[in-house]
Amino acid sequence: MTIHADDLAGRPIVVSGAGSGIGAALAYRAAVEHRMTAVVADVDAARAEQVAAAITGAGGKAQALAVDVSDPASVDALRARALDAYGAPALLVCNAGVEMTGAVWEIEPRDWQRVQAINVNGAFLMARAFLPAMLQTEQPGHVLCTSSIGGISIGAGQSAYLVSKHAIRVFAQTLAADLEAADARIGVSILLPGAVRTRIFDDAASTGSAGAEEMRSALASHLANDGITPEQVAEIAFAGVLEGRRWIHTHPEMSEQVLSEHLADLTAGVR
Ligand SMILES: NC(=O)c1ccc[n+]([C@@H]2O[C@H](COP(=O)([O-])OP(=O)(O)OC[C@H]3O[C@@H](n4cnc5c(N)ncnc54)[C@H](O)[C@@H]3O)[C@@H](O)[C@H]2O)c1
Repeated sequence: MTIHADDLAGRPIVVSGAGSGIGAALAYRAAVEHRMTAVVADVDAARAEQVAAAITGAGGKAQALAVDVSDPASVDALRARALDAYGAPALLVCNAGVEMTGAVWEIEPRDWQRVQAINVNGAFLMARAFLPAMLQTEQPGHVLCTSSIGGISIGAGQSAYLVSKHAIRVFAQTLAADLEAADARIGVSILLPGAVRTRIFDDAASTGSAGAEEMRSALASHLANDGITPEQVAEIAFAGVLEGRRWIHTHPEMSEQVLSEHLADLTAGVR
């Protein structure tokens, strides 16, 4: 199921975590390049307002709405306001996510649960909120879920995050299977970014151990020094969606490497 540029223009896009980074760039590109109406949804209302103002300042249409994607009532309130104002979205972007560093045995249960609640449950709650209206319109639609290259790889010191990114990746795959089984005109793409220059590690939690703090600041510097820009990610993401790609890789060589390592690890000892 491939959505075309003509199916986007004039229709709404709802982006979670759109107050910053990748979500902000996706909302901006949708509104300014593709002439969509962007619902800029974020738990940080001030950030969302700034992004919506930048979009309208550039001649696009946008509205900032506050949402906590981990809270079912908050997501339902977002759905009611967005559907009332603009109708069913052509594009739904489940993007809100938070990082956390620290070894498994250092993590407090509430911190683990918060990461899963935002990164995984948030995507589920957004999808279940908006898909009934998207299915009802019978117009083509698309769901983009932001996983990560961390959704296809394994590493030390980021267990809570990596588990959540694998989970949202599998969630998106199972959502695609459900939509195909229902013969829906709604496609699904999974965004797997490598390093992107955003504030995710400035806002990230850590277990507070020296190792976890060191890793958080090393990863923040890595994104600042080596990351591609959120605008580059948005360009790659829209090209991928319009080509009907299931998998959208921003760093394909790195993806290829981690996938071959992962496959070798998974299949070791099968025979
Ligand atoms: N930056 C990277 O290198 C990178 C790499 C791979 C994947 N990602 C993924 O990209 C997505 C966006 O991250 P980013 O790097 O743009 O980060 P960011 O911190 O710049 O933006 C994330 C936004 O999500 C919002 N948010 C946090 N909790 C929320 C909640 N409960 N409800 C609604 N909004 C909430 C934040 O306020 C923030 O504005 C995340 O899912 C992240 O895992 C980022």
